[in-house]
Amino acid sequence: MVTTLKFRNNDEMPILGLGTFRSEPNEVYNAVFFAIKMGYRHIDCAAAYGNEKEVGKAIAEAIKQGLVTREDLWVTSKLWNASHGEENVIPALHQTLEDLQLNYLDLYLIHWPVALKKGTEMPERASDFVPLSEVPLTNTWKGMEAALEEGLTKHIGVSNFNENHLKEIMATAVHQPEMNQVEIHPFLQQEALQSFCVQNDILLTAYAPLGSLVDENSTLRLLENDTIKTIAEARHMSPAQVALAYTMQRGIAVIPKSINEARLLQNLETLNHTLTEEDMAMLKDLDQEHRFIDGKFWEVDNGPYTADSIWNA
Ligand code: A2P
Repeated sequence: MVTTLKFRNNDEMPILGLGTFRSEPNEVYNAVFFAIKMGYRHIDCAAAYGNEKEVGKAIAEAIKQGLVTREDLWVTSKLWNASHGEENVIPALHQTLEDLQLNYLDLYLIHWPVALKKGTEMPERASDFVPLSEVPLTNTWKGMEAALEEGLTKHIGVSNFNENHLKEIMATAVHQPEMNQVEIHPFLQQEALQSFCVQNDILLTAYAPLGSLVDENSTLRLLENDTIKTIAEARHMSPAQVALAYTMQRGIAVIPKSINEARLLQNLETLNHTLTEEDMAMLKDLDQEHRFIDGKFWEVDNGPYTADSIWNA
């Protein structure tokens, strides 16, 4: 199995990283520290996850103990929606760097093509939002480019962008986006977006690669799918490893989240397995365009964003 994805300047990002979304501050320190100790070299963070200080403490401790150097690690973070606008990017990135105790990131992403008023964490009413007509993505992208030029991050990209959002920033970009991080797993394979990204030299990272397990009552539990379970049994893998291997073998990075040592190790060990072409073909048939993270939380009465406008417009 390929273990890295190559950027345009030949920098390599480990294809499997640790996700930190929904890891509570008191849990994430151990998860990050153990993950680095067992061999993870890619940590995916975001200001919005509210735990970058604890992630930073764990990275600092791992470096202090000589487990890794800063250069061994790939650290990604994301610009929160309340910091869209050219002039807000570098200050937001400085805060993230301070929290993570780092002097540069490997990759900085615009978290969503959604803008919020300064200081808003999660919006409740229409007045919490700023429409993209007032703060265009191209303007925020200029701030991302300035951060790159200042050396605060080695690469820049986006998250949750559809093809049209990408085209909009690509039309005027001086530095093209190199990454789009979106939800991808066997139930949401994003083939059209993948082919657009491949044509334009944009890499993809899959969030919620295990189907996220957010909705406890969902009848669509990815890891309980019969095809996934059958392949898992045949290959002596777990269902989670099958899901992760499938996405990685499509050339897409994965960032499974776990705060449990055994599952962290199990996910990392996916790199020791390879699915056959026959397995890949069976898994391809599972696509049902099902989003676990549906974007409906951006919809409020009379607000400027709908889930449909984010994913499809
Ligand atoms: P936990 O942190 O207790 O391990 P995603 O990355 O798709 O958002 O999914 C994360 C969810 O999947 C978390 O609830 C996490 O729980 C769980 N998880 C992570 N790794 C595995 C695994 N190997 N098998 C089963 N569940 C897992």
